[in-house]
Amino acid sequence: LMDGPLRGKHVLVTSGPTHEPIDPVRYIANRSSGAQGTALARALSALGADVTFVTGPADVPPPDGVNVVKVQSAQQMLEAVQTALPADAAVFAAAVADWRVVSASDSKIKKDAKGSLPVLEFAENPDILATVSQMKKGRPPLVVGFAAETDDVMANATAKRVRKGCDWIVANDVSPETGIMGGSENAVTLISDDGADVWPRMGKDDVARQLAARIADALAG
Ligand code: C5P
Repeated sequence: LMDGPLRGKHVLVTSGPTHEPIDPVRYIANRSSGAQGTALARALSALGADVTFVTGPADVPPPDGVNVVKVQSAQQMLEAVQTALPADAAVFAAAVADWRVVSASDSKIKKDAKGSLPVLEFAENPDILATVSQMKKGRPPLVVGFAAETDDVMANATAKRVRKGCDWIVANDVSPETGIMGGSENAVTLISDDGADVWPRMGKDDVARQLAARIADALAG
């Protein structure tokens, strides 16, 4: 472990998309690359934190020097998070699927000769950020969520912070024209009890380093 202001602190980071199975070979997913969560885990580790990195199937490899827990589905991610607690801080950068298929088939769903189509029934996935934010016992002292929005970024993210019960929300605009989703840059607003802090557009690595520094300050003070 590196020396630094987060030495001796355990920080949990979720990252990447989740895959929700339809059958053994098919799944529902989203376009999250895992880039921002991976950069954040790396930056926290560089400040000396003991990082548990719970990741769905991401495009980018996990950083070296962190404890990697690979999962597929939202339900598996929640279990991995609960197993990894307690933590001094938890950052939820994963793009968790909102819905899963109610009963994924154990065998590959076959095309029907008569042309009848499969019908998928959905159930809501657990909200991992809200679950941890609202823990009565063992809640991490600092819980950070992300809010990827395409409209009314500030209003939606501010409401989300209250609804979920987390301490900070890192809000960003993922409208296609921003190129942020899947890109190397991000433009974020950090929303806390103290209000909103608008950061200039910068590389995801720089966003990660600044956020890690803010987390170190919060845990120190
Ligand atoms: O509600 P929304 O998905 O926009 O909230 C985004 C935040 O909530 C992110 O921090 C994300 O990691 C977290 N989240 C979660 N579990 C879910 C849905 C979102 O942890 N099922």
